[in-house]
Amino acid sequence: MGAKVTKMGLEDGLSGKDFLTLEDCSQDDLNQLLELAAILKNQQKLGKQVQPLQGKTLGMIFEKASTRTRVSFETGMFQLGGHALFLSPSDMQLGRGETIADTAKVLSGYLDGIMIRTYSQAMIEEMAAHATIPIINGLTDMYHPCQVLADLLTIQEKKGGLKGVKVAYIGDGNNMAHSLLLGGAKMGMHIHIASPKGYEPDPNIVEKAKHLAEITGAQIEVSHQAESAASHADVLYTDVWTSMGQEKEQAERLAEFSPFQVNESLCALAKKDMVFMHCLPAHREQEVTAGVLDGSHSIVFQQAENRLHAQKALLVGLMA
Ligand code: CP
Ligand code: NVA
Repeated sequence: MGAKVTKMGLEDGLSGKDFLTLEDCSQDDLNQLLELAAILKNQQKLGKQVQPLQGKTLGMIFEKASTRTRVSFETGMFQLGGHALFLSPSDMQLGRGETIADTAKVLSGYLDGIMIRTYSQAMIEEMAAHATIPIINGLTDMYHPCQVLADLLTIQEKKGGLKGVKVAYIGDGNNMAHSLLLGGAKMGMHIHIASPKGYEPDPNIVEKAKHLAEITGAQIEVSHQAESAASHADVLYTDVWTSMGQEKEQAERLAEFSPFQVNESLCALAKKDMVFMHCLPAHREQEVTAGVLDGSHSIVFQQAENRLHAQKALLVGLMA
């Protein structure tokens, strides 16, 4: 197969690179990945095999639990003709003190890419600094870029485009909020994050998003006003109030976040054709009512499915 066919129409921009945050991609890269994701989704639905990753192996290191990320990456690699390997740090020498640098160098000799879900963004940056193969961020405390890649695909499917789409994210200024800020800013969207006081997104990431917005025409707003964020929104988005690793803060968070629940009255402020999104897993009657999560505006399962298609495009971009 020629280079263009092997890369499925993608330019070589992403080949061999890491995907640690959405800052690693240009707007053009993201548009190309979304286009390829739509093609791969269509082919999959038609039952057609597309296997540009034959002979390639992805290592998957999980230091936190996962349903969607693990299953979508493993299935995605299989569908693309490659192989995925689940690596539990408790079974690896990494869990017994082997350094991240040595692990990265050793794994680079066996694998064609590594997907990592861990706590610290610095850990995956260190892995990337020492690995000679692409490192993919499968969630850290700071970012969840693979989720937002799938979210962009889902919003594009539902709204016909991304530029100017108004997303109201109601809740914790966490990894999801950070990646939505960067992804939305890159794509010229309007992102309003409304969080309780003390739970705002990292001001450095907000600054980065505002800087990107000056180039793309995006609008970035951070407030403590759930109602004003939801007003005339195209997309209402929320995430859990207590992320993985914050379990000790759960009781305090439940109290602080209760005015930020996405419920029927908040949804009534959004546009009539608003869609509700959540990266899942969800807690009904905490961050979202069951009526909204299971209601007619909710697209959470389409969103979850799109993890598979968006990540397949990413794997082709980085590893084919
Ligand atoms: N949304 C998401 O990343 O889900 P998992 O934690 O199940 O992977
Ligand atoms: N913010 C959540 C996302 C889970 C997919 C967490 O980090 O636990």
